[in-house]
Amino acid sequence: MWKILFSGLILMYTIYSALPELCTSVTPINNHNVLFVTAHPDDEVMFFGPLLRYTLNPKWNNTVNLLCLSTGDADGQGEVRVKELGYAAYMVGLPPANVSVVDEPALQDSMDAQWDPSVVSEVVAKYAKEFDSSIFITFDDYGVSGHPNHIAVSKGVEKYANEAAVPGDELLVVQLQSVPIYRKYLFVIDAAFSRILDIMDGRGTVFSGQTDYHRVRQAMTSGHKSQMTWFRYLYVSFSRYMIANSGNGWPR
Ligand SMILES: *[C@@H]1O[C@H](CO)[C@@H](O)[C@H](O)[C@H]1NC(C)=O
Ligand SMILES: *[C@@H]1O[C@H](CO)[C@@H](O)[C@H](O)[C@H]1NC(C)=O
Repeated sequence: MWKILFSGLILMYTIYSALPELCTSVTPINNHNVLFVTAHPDDEVMFFGPLLRYTLNPKWNNTVNLLCLSTGDADGQGEVRVKELGYAAYMVGLPPANVSVVDEPALQDSMDAQWDPSVVSEVVAKYAKEFDSSIFITFDDYGVSGHPNHIAVSKGVEKYANEAAVPGDELLVVQLQSVPIYRKYLFVIDAAFSRILDIMDGRGTVFSGQTDYHRVRQAMTSGHKSQMTWFRYLYVSFSRYMIANSGNGWPR
């Protein structure tokens, strides 16, 4: 029984991974200064891996930066986690110098902390100016898991983009679509399914092939070592965010 299930998954994965070029049929994100904005070290590979690998592909001529708004110090491990973020970034192909980690008293990693979107927006403004960012990639208003820090980041980036936009020079915000829980762990099955949904509602989705998937997976398992509990091994094996990212607000 398990053998059949496992073989089926491997077969589907093999077929699917031969096709990402075909499946990823969206308006490209190219010639942009891309700024990923996340809340905690490890968000970038747990949720945004496919988009990171996609925007970093040299053929798209992007300059990529990552802004992480906290050190992930909820369990007092902030220092370790910031270091791990550097390794993980390096493993996915983002130079550690292109990673900025913010340690603001008003933005500390906690399920109970309500980050003020205005503070987020101010911090984002500072970095967006430094990097001359033209497109922002961040969470949507559910923030993948409903974590309040993720949601505040989404609101703050949106606020900044609205305020900083000048007519004729809009700032694009691509928000990572949160999928319902029943789709979250369907891996390739969901990835194939979402392609159909996207065609219907005009959303953009990028898929990772095997190489990209394995790089992101390794960035999580050996980069963010301190975070690797048994359930995160399940996560990196079954979460659809490891192989497919759908974005609302995709450039047209
Ligand atoms: C790469 O992107 C930059 C803008 O970020 C643009 O100025 C440059 O012309 C692009 N290069 C190519 C080869 O398209
Ligand atoms: C990292 O940042 C530097 C300086 O802004 C930039 O020239 C380079 O293209 C970035 N690297 C990537 C992979 O985007």
